[in-house]
Amino acid sequence: MSKKTSFGPANHVQRANPKSYFLKTFGCQMNVYDSERMAEALARDGYSETDDVAKADLVILNTCHIREKAAEKVYSDLGRIRVIKDARKRNGKETVIAVTGCIAQAEGPEITARQPAVDLVIGPQSYHRLPEFIARAETNNERIVETEFPGDEKFAAMKAPRRVSSPSAFLTVQEGCDKFCTFCVVPYTRGAEFSRPLAKLEAEARELAAAGARELVLLGQNVNAYHGEGPAGRTIGLGELIRRLAGIDGIERIRYMTSHPRDMSDDLIAAHAEVPQLMPFLHLPIQSGSDRMLAAMNRKHRAAEYIDLIARIRQERPDIALSSDFIVGFPGETDQDAEETIALVKAVGYAQAFSFKYSPRPGTPAAALEVQVPEDVKAERLQRLQALLEEQQMAFNTEMLGGTIPVLFERRGRHPGEFVGRTPYLQLIYAAGDGDLTGRTADVRVTDARRVSLSGVISAA
Ligand code: SAH
Ligand code: SF4
Ligand code: F3S
Repeated sequence: MSKKTSFGPANHVQRANPKSYFLKTFGCQMNVYDSERMAEALARDGYSETDDVAKADLVILNTCHIREKAAEKVYSDLGRIRVIKDARKRNGKETVIAVTGCIAQAEGPEITARQPAVDLVIGPQSYHRLPEFIARAETNNERIVETEFPGDEKFAAMKAPRRVSSPSAFLTVQEGCDKFCTFCVVPYTRGAEFSRPLAKLEAEARELAAAGARELVLLGQNVNAYHGEGPAGRTIGLGELIRRLAGIDGIERIRYMTSHPRDMSDDLIAAHAEVPQLMPFLHLPIQSGSDRMLAAMNRKHRAAEYIDLIARIRQERPDIALSSDFIVGFPGETDQDAEETIALVKAVGYAQAFSFKYSPRPGTPAAALEVQVPEDVKAERLQRLQALLEEQQMAFNTEMLGGTIPVLFERRGRHPGEFVGRTPYLQLIYAAGDGDLTGRTADVRVTDARRVSLSGVISAA
């Protein structure tokens, strides 16, 4: 890499009365991406970021509604922030509190009813209007709840320059979901599936590369359902999008998440064999290994089809590392169903995976089912599944021992001279190096393997 890039906050704008914001992000990478875009818009308007709520003129909680725990955490945070807002007011300082993200979309005015200190409630499709809403809250003390779905307006209208805080940059290419799995709030909080056009994505990817990004992580709630406007108005899929983005100077690695098994097209599978920049890692959630549960979840495929799909992907890219999400204790799940999930995990062999206890969400069909599984049964099944997944993750990492692997370094570690990066298989890896390795790819010989990370020695840069 010839050009020196510095990572971290940039473009500080001077203004007469500088204001600061505190921004906390919950939930998935799509929320992280949205938070980055909001931060860029705020920086453009002269705001600086603070990690101390007591110093913030504007507090934004970008929230997640996926499970009950995630949602409850936000309300307890809001309780604490309200106390700080009151204390600031006694010192003559105003604080605008904004709740954005999926709780904002799902609960709307209920949020201000439950926590009256909240000024703004803004759903995920209205972030481009954030500066306008903040101004109205500041000047007229207005309370605003905005949860419309105006289509593609959001990204088109967010014109602030892209910054990168890490060589691995998120790029949202698709939003929303039309699948309506019976447990899931996403189709209600993010709306209908929408794909951004190729031209916009290429322009943004070039901007990110110029700012120092070496890896693009293409994001979407259903990223492999991507069907955006391509050249000459033709619709293109995710495979073709990846091939196009791989041609951008400086982009060494491409990843995508999250995919649905029903949208894994042959072209996308072929891209795993053909595009060197496309990393051999695939997060492909199945949720359960039981056909009865898959049907009740409305996943629209059977376990055997998933196993078959994995075999086809491995044929194209034999070393691909696999990941999944699992839900245990979906309504009606029996010991036999739980056993089938264990059997599926054994049949596939995962490099890593996430697993959750089923959490009934208001307004979703599964929440209304009468046959809910008791908490202690869920806990027991989760423990058993996680023990197996952890064993597989440890085995996958142990296989790397003694081998040499290209690592993209993302940041400095805690110890002097230590850097932290990722292997092609998304494993976290630590290595010592001279100079600043951030943003560089180097070959690392793996000397130590733990369940969640590796360590190694740089053999060549
Ligand atoms: N679009 C992705 C998942 C998005 S939500 C997909 O189709 O796989 C991320 C994960 O949260 C899901 O894969 C699921 O495992 C989990 N999840 C969603 N709703 C949940 C609920 N009600 N209870 C527990 N886990 C849930
Ligand atoms: Fe939720 Fe299912 Fe859509 Fe994934 S595919 S976001 S789990 S409804
Ligand atoms: Fe949560 Fe919304 Fe993402 S519910 S997981 S923040 S799409």
